[in-house]
Amino acid sequence: MRIGLAYNEKPDPDGSLDDPSSTRSDAFVEWDDRSTIEAVEQALSLFGDVVRLEADVLFPQKLALARPHLVFNIAEGLHGPNREAHVPAICEFLNVPCTASDSLTLALALHKTRTKQILAQCGVATAPFTEVARLEELGGVELPFPLFVKPVHEGSGKGIFVNNLCRSPAELRERVAWLLERYRQPVLVEAYLPGAEFTVAILGNGAAAACLPIVGIDFAALPAGATPVYGYEAKWVWDTPERPLDLFQCPAPVPASLARDIEGVALAAYHALGCRDWCRVDVRLDAAGAPNVVELNPLPGVIPDPNMNSCFPKAARVAGLSYYELIQEVVRIAWKRITGQSLAGTPAQEATA
Ligand SMILES: Nc1ncnc2c1ncn2[C@@H]1O[C@H](COP(=O)(O)OP(=O)(O)OP(=O)(O)O)[C@@H](O)[C@H]1O
Ligand SMILES: [Mg+2]
Repeated sequence: MRIGLAYNEKPDPDGSLDDPSSTRSDAFVEWDDRSTIEAVEQALSLFGDVVRLEADVLFPQKLALARPHLVFNIAEGLHGPNREAHVPAICEFLNVPCTASDSLTLALALHKTRTKQILAQCGVATAPFTEVARLEELGGVELPFPLFVKPVHEGSGKGIFVNNLCRSPAELRERVAWLLERYRQPVLVEAYLPGAEFTVAILGNGAAAACLPIVGIDFAALPAGATPVYGYEAKWVWDTPERPLDLFQCPAPVPASLARDIEGVALAAYHALGCRDWCRVDVRLDAAGAPNVVELNPLPGVIPDPNMNSCFPKAARVAGLSYYELIQEVVRIAWKRITGQSLAGTPAQEATA
């Protein structure tokens, strides 16, 4: 079997933190480190030859020439609000199957307002929200404070800082003005969910989709007095490879009934957005203690180093799957979805047979 690995590799840090286009800014936080790409490649080699297909401007040509049996997609994309959808769209165009969700789901999931509209329509709990494309629209916001604001189509903590929690109209105006100017896209304004936070890793398709052990975010690990949000500071400033924050509790220490409710809302969101193969769903409790879906990550981060904070591999380890086994399980799940056949035993022979 020949597997293509579609990825975007983080450039080496260079330039100034304040220059939005520099590689030291938050411009490339969604992309993967070389060590992650190497680890995924190693895991995939169980099934045969792995062809690296960096998702750059030559990706369509490289894919057309390589014509792998399957593309394993971890590419976060180059440009624009639909960037995560480009690799699966090109795969579909060239009739090459790929892992993870299709272009429709990836474009929707990267757009937090569209995601929440679908969740609300499908009866999946999510915080009350509205979207603001221009500062003048703030006058029409009728949601009660406190509110939380974020750029509509970013991920990996980009544009989400502790002061995105707004307690007054003045704070809301100041923060929305800054986000509109800095990220050049509409801002999602939603009710602040004050309760505990969880993230749920899901593997599988249709009725076989199932949750790995729930990961709880322990905000007590943040610096004293920090606002309890898992945003840019917690992901990229306070948590470093040299001094990792002890942020995750897996399985999350919650009563069985709450765990069932968290899993239920996560799976409902997974199906509402039409997710495939795998996805990580972020959940937070509202003031009444009910789980609400914050957002979905259908291209979940998979940092291989167990000492670094990466929720999906962590949940997999607790479920008894090593890092390599997790990646290989995603391939098996995708192969079964695409061909109806199991990819087991001697996979290379079965796949090419
Ligand atoms: N409505 C809300 N109420 C309270 N906290 C929130 C809300 N929305 C987001 N947060 C906090 O901000 C964090 C980041 O938000 P979100 O998950 O939407 O961003 P992201 O950058 O797409 O995340 P990821 O790194 O998972 O891609 C959440 O994990 C949560 O701690
Ligand atoms: Mg998130």
